[in-house]
This record gives sequence, C-alpha cells and structure tokens, in this order.
Amino acid sequence: MREIPLSVPNLNIEIADHLRQCVETGWVSTGGGFIAAFEEKTAAYVGVPEAVACQSGTAGLHAALRILGVGPGDAVIVPTLTFIAAVNPVRYLGAEPIFMDCDGGLCLDPVKLERFCRDECRVEAGRLIDNATGNAVKAVIPVHVFGNLADMAAIMDTAARYGLKVLEDATEAMGSFYASGEYAGRHAGTIGDMGVFSFNANKIITTGGGGMIVAGSGSEGRACIGRARYLTATARDDALYFRHDEVGYNYRMLNLQAALGVSQIGELENFVAIKRRNYDLYAQYLQGIRGLSLFPFGEGLRPNRWFYSLLFEEEDRRDRIMRTLIAEGIQCRPVWKLVHTQKPYCASRAYDIEKAHYWERHILNVPCSTNLTEDDVRYVCERIAACG
Ligand SMILES: Cc1ncc(COP(=O)(O)O)c(C=O)c1O
Repeated sequence: MREIPLSVPNLNIEIADHLRQCVETGWVSTGGGFIAAFEEKTAAYVGVPEAVACQSGTAGLHAALRILGVGPGDAVIVPTLTFIAAVNPVRYLGAEPIFMDCDGGLCLDPVKLERFCRDECRVEAGRLIDNATGNAVKAVIPVHVFGNLADMAAIMDTAARYGLKVLEDATEAMGSFYASGEYAGRHAGTIGDMGVFSFNANKIITTGGGGMIVAGSGSEGRACIGRARYLTATARDDALYFRHDEVGYNYRMLNLQAALGVSQIGELENFVAIKRRNYDLYAQYLQGIRGLSLFPFGEGLRPNRWFYSLLFEEEDRRDRIMRTLIAEGIQCRPVWKLVHTQKPYCASRAYDIEKAHYWERHILNVPCSTNLTEDDVRYVCERIAACG
C-alpha cells in the first residue's frame, strides 16, 4: 500500500555531522555551541535581538506566561480552536482559561475579544476583572493556526486598551510574516509581549522536540528574555554555590536538539517555497471536485503554509472521505476537538463560540510534508475524487 504521512520531518544529512560533533565532544546536554548558534540564527531570522531555546513549545509557553505575571486565580483568554498544549500552561500556573471563538482565518476572533472585554468585564484599580468570576484577566494568547496569522493589529489594540499582556503562540508559524499593513515585515511571534515557536517533529522545521522563546526589542522585552534564560535553566543565581532564589524549570534545549536546529533553519525559506508550490498543486488538482475547497491563507501575509486544510460543505462526506483515505494509507485528520469541550476544560468559561464549531466539523487536514512530491499530491487528490 502506498503510504503518505501527514507531516513528517525533512532532514538534511548535514545533521549527522552535527550530531557526531556532539558525541565526539561530549556536549550532548544543556550546554554547547549549537544552542547559542541556533538561538542567534532564530533571532536574526525573525528579527529580534535575542531568543531563548527550550525543550518544547509547551515549556516555552509555560515559562513565558509566568514571566508575563500570570498566577493562581488569574484568567487568560485563549482560542478554543487550537491544540490543547496552547491552553494547558494556563492551568499549570493555577490560572483559568476563558475560551474565545475564531475568525474566518481560524485564529482568535479580535471582534469578540474586544466585545468580551467591553461587555463582560470591568476595570477596577487598573485591572480587568471578569464580571462572571471576579478573576483578573491578565493576558491573551493568540495562536497563529496552521501558519496563518491572527489579526495582531486589532488584538494589540484591544490588549493595550484593557491592559492585557499578549503571548503569541507562534508554534505553527515559524516563517510567517505580515507583508503589508501596520506590521509589514514583522514575523509571527515578534509583535506581542512575548512569542513562542515549536520545533516538534511535525512542524515546518524540527529539532525532534524543542521550542524558542522571543520577546520585543525594548527594555521590557529584554527583561523578559533575561527572565526566560534564568527560569528555563532552573533559576540559578550562583552557578558555583548553586544558589536558587526562585523555583525554576529544567526547560533548556539540549545541544543535541540544537544540532538539528542550526541545519534546519538554513532550509526554512526553501521549505516555505515547497509548501507554497505544493499548496498551489493541491489547488490545481482539487479543481472540479464537488463540495470542497482548499482553505485560503489570509491576504497581506507571507504565510509559511504549514498545514493544508480542505473545507467540506457536507460534514458526513468529510468523515466518509477521511476514513477512506486513512484506510488507503493517506494520513489525514479533522481539525482539533475544541478545547472548551475537552474534559479538563468543559466547566471553564467560553464566550459565544460559534464559528469554531463549524470549522471543527467541516475541515480536513491533508498531507503537507515538505518532502511531498507532485505525484504524491496528484495521487491524494485522485483518491479524494474517487471517493465521490
Ligand atoms: C498551537 C500549538 N500550541 C502549542 C504546541 C506545543 O508545542 P510542543 O509540541 O513543541 O510542546 C503546538 C504543537 O505541538 C501547537 O500546535
């Protein structure tokens, strides 16, 4: 059977040389030259002064939320249409999520965000208080879903008006940037107070597992990055005597992981070009198949086109085709089950969720790896057509 995976790594053999260097020198853990090199390359690529490499996107989000001041009894606004790892760090810190709907591009709905802050909250002693729970709403986490970009101009506006910190979950969006408008040239993850990337194996570039924390170039951003470096390395205040003035985390990236990263980041622009070529091929080969369309990326952006989504008119047909493709060895999946309907979060506050329910039932993600050939794309589309 011909097997086509959904999203797998595309690794250059140069990585073997890097790993060999780690083994030969013994630098396999949280110290070593590849870590600093990968941080510098990432910072330069996305256009920030500094970046901090960590164990995973989830670890980066956890540390960043804490740095932004989220703690027990606080509330954080999150999208419901996302991978659950974007939300779990809120709970790790003893805070509560408030779930928000998504916009036409699958990202956090900025209109509902504004409406929620205006109609459902009050400002008390400079803090935004959720009327229903009495919790202080401290932050918002826009997720750049599938490499599309959230409407950061509108989100930043609302955040500034209501004193919310903004943590960008750019885990899926390394390589996406605004091509026009207020943030033209600015990369995903570099607009809010802090941003986090993931290098999990299914992402556009990978370190096997890993993440990167970034922040703005102002003095506040630099302070956040300093805190990130400190907290992710067990908050060591005196390296010789092992003095720790705070409870930190063992979240530093390994040199072994960074050895992959320095090679992968050199391929990133090439991968974005391949993603675009394969996206266009899908558009071409899907033409004429009834009742479905290729989900578009937003205008005025240079998206990385990490994940391709098909939008089906009929939910039943989506499920039928999905099951047939899986049985034939073509890996595909629906968009995530909405987080506010998951067991750990079904009692949490959710505000006017509507569009996300539609996307949940009508979207199918299809193979999108950067080593996908034109023949693979044609084959997937032919099998979809054959399902009727
Ligand atoms: C939206 C989103 N947030 C967070 C994460 C967590 O990243 P990681 O797997 O590196 O912990 C991922 C991906 O895995 C993700 O897709």
